[in-house]
Amino acid sequence: MDKYRIAVIPGDGIGLEVLREGMKILNRAAELDGSFFFEDVWFPWGCEYYLKNGRMMPEDGIEILRDFDAIYLGAVGYPGVPDHISLWELLLTIRKSFDQYVNLRPVKLLNGAPCPLKDVKREDVNMTFIRENSEGEYAGSGSWLFKGKPNEVVIQDGVFSRTGCERIIRYAFETARKEGRSLTSISKGNALNYSMVFWDQIFKEVSREYPDVTTHSYLVDAASMFMVKDPARFEVVVTSNLFGDILTDLGAAIAGGMGLAAGANLNPERRYPSMFEPIHGSAPDIAGKGIANPMASVWAASQMLDFFGHEDWGARVLNAIERVLVEGKVLTPDMGGRAKTSEVGDAIREELEA
Ligand code: NAD
Ligand code: IPM
Ligand code: MN
Repeated sequence: MDKYRIAVIPGDGIGLEVLREGMKILNRAAELDGSFFFEDVWFPWGCEYYLKNGRMMPEDGIEILRDFDAIYLGAVGYPGVPDHISLWELLLTIRKSFDQYVNLRPVKLLNGAPCPLKDVKREDVNMTFIRENSEGEYAGSGSWLFKGKPNEVVIQDGVFSRTGCERIIRYAFETARKEGRSLTSISKGNALNYSMVFWDQIFKEVSREYPDVTTHSYLVDAASMFMVKDPARFEVVVTSNLFGDILTDLGAAIAGGMGLAAGANLNPERRYPSMFEPIHGSAPDIAGKGIANPMASVWAASQMLDFFGHEDWGARVLNAIERVLVEGKVLTPDMGGRAKTSEVGDAIREELEA
């Protein structure tokens, strides 16, 4: 029997509500399969922990996580703790410490999911976003000079290394080759005359190793317009950290909403644990009401199953979500329904068993 050790970090707000359902589905998939099981260890780290202990996780938090096979994270950030502290001390520290340089975010309109776009065929919204997840605009490099004085100056650097750009672009080409789909690079070389010119140059260089992959290159402003007007243009997409953050919320909006958008933070070499999470935040506006949509977290669980080599179960979990959507009877309010978070989790579990 294979054992997978999962560090579960619900974090803040709706994080706990949605991860409970995700774990329910993971455990049921394992039971139905019979050849593997999960050992889940829950960590109460987050903003409440910060208010008690003055930090988001223990000093040796990263050491504690290192031995797990994967991390399953809910959401981080809550009113009362400044966002740049809560996120940098937990979520971003994990992504960086474990060199999770690939952020894999499917933007796929499932059957039954709501779509605000007109005149767009469902199958036209089917993108694999590959976001650089370790550097770029999120490098955390900069300075704050003469703080609080009239002449204060703030500098936030974008850091684009050759290694960092090459590895993410190469990963994207490999994905496009494997999926037999085109690869689109999204950048902004017209205005960001160092970082994005460099990105574009590396994209061109690496593309020579993949003559079989059709490529496109868009400026980020035009790309955001085309994602709405003509989403079929985008298949596999590679972009920088900040652009990927913004465009995948846009992607979520056209593919059913934040309640459905999942992401995997991967260390492809498997030197460190990878992390699976919904891409939404802690949703303070609905936290504690039991009405958060758990589908994004369940989809992230399906990505975890894929990553462990159980692609059959990953696909089954995704199909179960899709059948609940098509059925349309047990949905949370964001999907137009009246069901509770746990009822949606139960409905997905029943579909998985069916
Ligand atoms: P958010 O994603 O938490 O919420 C945006 C909107 O989407 C809200 O109206 C919310 O109710 C809705 N929503 C989100 N997830 C939902 C779900 N599963 N079901 C139903 N509705 C859902 O974004 P925000 O309000 O900008 O951020 C709130 C906090 O979360 C902030 O502290 C922010 O920094 C943090 N945040 C964390 C992550 C993360 O941990 N990965 C991601 C984004 C934001
Ligand atoms: C996401 C989130 C994070 C990001 C924040 C909370 C730091 O928005 O995962 O998309 O920007 O990466
Ligand atoms: Mn985001």
